[in-house]
Amino acid sequence: MTDPADIKHVLQDNARNYHKSPLFERLRDVVGNGLLTSEDAFWLRQRRLAQPAFHRLRLIAMADAMVACTEQMLERWDGIASRGDPIDLVAEMMGLTQSIIVRTMFSTDLGAAAEVVHRTWPIINRRIGETFWATKLETRLPLPANRRLWRAKAELEAVVDRIIAGRRRTGRDEPDLLSMFLAARDDETGDGMTDRQLRDEALTMLLAGHETTSLALSWTYYLLSRHADVERKIEDEVDRVIAGGRPGFAHLEPLTCTRRTIEESLRLYPPAWGFSRQALGDDEIRGYRVPKGSLVFVIPFVVHRRPKLWPDPERFDPDRFASEHESARPRFAYIPFGGGPRGCIGSQFAMMEAQLIVAAIAQRYRIALVPGQDIRPEPLITLRPAPGIRAHLEKRGRLTR
Ligand code: HEM
Repeated sequence: MTDPADIKHVLQDNARNYHKSPLFERLRDVVGNGLLTSEDAFWLRQRRLAQPAFHRLRLIAMADAMVACTEQMLERWDGIASRGDPIDLVAEMMGLTQSIIVRTMFSTDLGAAAEVVHRTWPIINRRIGETFWATKLETRLPLPANRRLWRAKAELEAVVDRIIAGRRRTGRDEPDLLSMFLAARDDETGDGMTDRQLRDEALTMLLAGHETTSLALSWTYYLLSRHADVERKIEDEVDRVIAGGRPGFAHLEPLTCTRRTIEESLRLYPPAWGFSRQALGDDEIRGYRVPKGSLVFVIPFVVHRRPKLWPDPERFDPDRFASEHESARPRFAYIPFGGGPRGCIGSQFAMMEAQLIVAAIAQRYRIALVPGQDIRPEPLITLRPAPGIRAHLEKRGRLTR
């Protein structure tokens, strides 16, 4: 599907006729039956439970943790920059968004356990990508790659189980997602969520809540390295709006150029480049018959580059997101976060996180890509810059402008 009206039909108007496709099985193998992978009444209940964690007031409270995590990274960067070493930008952004999701959703500094998330996630992510189209048998055989996946998954589950057990033991009530899930009771039975359900939801948030944002940031820096004019505009905007202070929620609104740049990066390189559904019953879309059981693919990467919707689509132009242009586009022409009832629960969280990170970095560093790299989008489950991005850190005070 690449037409906004068709996409709206599948994701919103007739969403009841569609489930996530069997391709989500690979994700289900890892995160179980959480928000991203569950269906119908169970999904609705979990979505309602999780929603308050993303309320505006909660987001305001999270801004501080996001900036604190970024500051920790920047302190480490000071050492790297003074040695003149290059950084692996994708790994840096991944580590940063991992620490943010853990701190905001679980009020925990995983400490040593953060290392487990950092180490196991690439193994899991790669294997899910490799086996996306594989048969069930291939994913069940004790092949070395599967065994590595199982070991990584067991390690990650043990970390999450430890967080849950710790919270149950202390009974501490934190204003975070985990507490909301722990306090939830079934209307009819009065039962709370089982440890298994809690683990599924926690794993879902951990995984859905960091990888995509880290890629959005990596692609943003890739684009900025090719558009020095926009990079300067962001630096000027950050200097003007934040005036050397600490970035916070109140700055998000006036950081217009920063926000539009991230939106434009999500247009050109949507981390969730494609996702799929399966029709539960027969349907018809603009005269095309969609028989029960058909797979339907929604491909943001293509929708976002259609000349009919986006004039001169290959051109990087953050001003496309000026409000007068936005109101002229059909709603489902821009779908980096999906849409309809199953749209991303973390979209505002992610936008705010990306904006704060770009602002905090711009105050201290300019990220200069090591020249001569051939970087291309690699469409696994998410759209990754392959083979990676190496960059040097240039301290801003020392830049001649
Ligand atoms: C730039 C960053 C992000 C992008 C591009 C992104 C993209 C998406 C997309 C496209 C979907 C819909 C998938 C489908 O319809 O099959 C989705 C769902 C979801 N996202 Fe995100 N996401 C991002 C950040 C986040 C964050 C930060 C969180 C959590 C803190 C999160 C949690 C989720 C969850 C739980 C779902 C499933 C929602 C449901 O089915 O009810 N995402 N995301």
